[in-house]
Amino acid sequence: MCQQCGTVFAKWVGQCSNCGTWNSLVEQVAENPADKKLTIEKAKTSGKKLDFVKLKTVVPSDAKARLGTSFRDLDTVLGGGILMGSVSLLAGQPGIGKSTLLMQICAAVASGYDVLYVSGEESAGQVKLRASRLGANSERLNFAASTSGNDIAKTIESGEFDLVIVDSIQTLAINEIASAPGTVSQVTNCGNLIIRAAKATDTAVVIVGHVTKEGTLAGPKVLEHLVDVVLNFEGDRYGGFKTVRAVKNRFGSTNEVAMFEMANEGLKEVENPSAALLSERTNTDGSVILATLNGNRPILVEIQALVNASNYGYPKRTASGFDLNRLNLLIAVLEKRTKLKLSDKDVFINVVGGMKLSDSAADLAVAIAIASASAGRKLGEEYVVFGEVGLGGEIRSAFRADQRIAEAKKLGFKHAIGPSTVKDKFVVPVKDLRETLIRFVK
Ligand code: TYD
Ligand code: MG
Repeated sequence: MCQQCGTVFAKWVGQCSNCGTWNSLVEQVAENPADKKLTIEKAKTSGKKLDFVKLKTVVPSDAKARLGTSFRDLDTVLGGGILMGSVSLLAGQPGIGKSTLLMQICAAVASGYDVLYVSGEESAGQVKLRASRLGANSERLNFAASTSGNDIAKTIESGEFDLVIVDSIQTLAINEIASAPGTVSQVTNCGNLIIRAAKATDTAVVIVGHVTKEGTLAGPKVLEHLVDVVLNFEGDRYGGFKTVRAVKNRFGSTNEVAMFEMANEGLKEVENPSAALLSERTNTDGSVILATLNGNRPILVEIQALVNASNYGYPKRTASGFDLNRLNLLIAVLEKRTKLKLSDKDVFINVVGGMKLSDSAADLAVAIAIASASAGRKLGEEYVVFGEVGLGGEIRSAFRADQRIAEAKKLGFKHAIGPSTVKDKFVVPVKDLRETLIRFVK
């Protein structure tokens, strides 16, 4: 039977023909239907009534201590710090800064708790090099190099530590399983073993998981179901802002994000990302400031568009930080509803600072940027833009408009071009894309 989808086969095959998973078939002895009925009958009588409690009287697990990470925003992402006894997964591409972030967290936590950093990738000397660069020199910070899931679980079970870091799950293996480190069965079983040990002794554990660009490597995806908190570390490996967001959190909200910048002394929280993102701006044609949201946090980013005559019969459309399908859709709307000619033009969109937008209210800013670049006319410096564009060219409402407006005011903008549903003097209301372009980019 395939362990992924439950399809039954008469003989062993390497790949399940139903769900495509490799090596997921496990032999099971088929039960005689009469026996099966008997089993169910037996199971019916062998159970006992559950011991239940009045939920009102239960002490919430939140009453346990939370370990501060020394990063204000990261604590918020975690719901107030790392909860004792919780198991978190920090997933990200190699080189993004996972080990750096965790060493900084260790340094902060070790000032009041016993911390163990287990690495399966680096030697004590290598880790020491990073630790001294980051100023992690507490007496209570310990290190072990190991790739044995059994040993790590046993160490956690000893209860000597309040926080244990496991870097990374892909390097671990347990002796009882023959497959190589990083395979689904090793990752799941090591994960399970560690989680059990952590829960038994109320030890907080943070597990590192690598993901490739395609997110293909086994591990984090399987582990996501097992752990309490899943943190995604995203962004450019080189330069730019990196964000940590919770995609799953049993003890907090998943709407918060923390933004970091890699410096010589490790990761630094970006206090005012909008100001940093706008600091190098020169107001040219094709540049528009978008008031968007990154998680719960309002943020201003610059959208740049470049429109060139196309040299080949087939025009090129490229977007960095913005969905390409959405860009093609906006170009179609611009052509149909505003009579802008783009069919023989290459269109490039860039979101400055390496941010990836997933906000539907980015539409209007992108559309105005394209029109502005194509006409060679600037949008006034005092404007920020937000709003969704419909296929009819109509401007639709954006959620959390008040937060976007507040952020724009804070950074000294005079007006926002936005949907007419927003009742605020700061917003110049627009109903339709054509009208907007005539009024602001003509
Ligand atoms: P690392 O944390 O080892 O990444 P990961 O564990 O996710 O694979 O380091 C990421 C990069 O950061 C590495 O290429 C070197 C750089 N770096 C700095 O720029 N400053 C620093 O203080 C440290 C510790 C690393
Ligand atoms: Mg690392």
